Amino acid sequence: MDVRIAADQHGQGRLTTGRIMRTKSMWGVPPSRFYRLLRNVEAAFPARSLSIAILGCSDGKFVLPAARRGHQVLAIDIDQVALFGGKKPGIGGEVWMPGLVARLQQEKLHHRVDVVQADFVEGKPAQRAAHLAVTSGSIQYSRNLQHSVRAIVASIQSFVRPRGYLYIDYMLPMEQKHRERENFFARGALHALFPATEWHVLYDRVLPPLLEKAHVDNPVDHFHHWGHLLARRQVSPARRPRSDRRGGP
Ligand SMILES: C[S@@+](CC[C@H](N)C(=O)[O-])C[C@H]1O[C@@H](n2cnc3c(N)ncnc32)[C@H](O)[C@@H]1O
Repeated sequence: MDVRIAADQHGQGRLTTGRIMRTKSMWGVPPSRFYRLLRNVEAAFPARSLSIAILGCSDGKFVLPAARRGHQVLAIDIDQVALFGGKKPGIGGEVWMPGLVARLQQEKLHHRVDVVQADFVEGKPAQRAAHLAVTSGSIQYSRNLQHSVRAIVASIQSFVRPRGYLYIDYMLPMEQKHRERENFFARGALHALFPATEWHVLYDRVLPPLLEKAHVDNPVDHFHHWGHLLARRQVSPARRPRSDRRGGP
């Protein structure tokens, strides 16, 4: 289902003499590594408005920074409230989340973003179009237990065009109940789903466990153990010259 921007009574757009007020994601601001990644992908595909897919976009923490730089963004999430606004559990009880669509309207960026309410594992992209696909903290959601991690990762990978980049941040298990779930990755398990014939894994870093402040959807301080993987899709073997097919990246 391709739900394009619709009027939203909860938008709080405030225009000041010609300047558009920036809105904020309730998930906070992107880390500096995201801006570094954008700059590197822009350098790899110069002089273009890039096609960027954010899978599990919520209210647009990564969507708006990409759209503000002039890129065309495909923003997919299953969560109606995150996309269109509504109540969420917050630190002191329920809070109002304006949602991605309201933020885009306020910043007049809706022409740059296709907002799609869908399961990104089930929806098949029409073509492998993205110069960059990003998914952040989404794979471990319990709704994804209905799919094997192999299917989840294959689906995420399918959004990326040849020579395009894929960035995933993922959770490693911290408790016994996580260890029983395939969608919390043990060290190296995600990397193993990136065959060298198709992908060049540029890094797969596991950071020490981190205390995170309470945030929307998780209103108490808590620990997470994050991994970060960046890979680049190779040109498909079928399209490489015959002399080039045997060697790895
Ligand atoms: C941790 S939140 C996103 C926060 C993130 N830091 C951001 O703002 O981009 C992960 C999001 O992924 C979404 N999600 C998880 N699995 C999904 C799936 N299979 N299809 C669509 N959305 C999914 C959840 O609904 C949630 O909004």
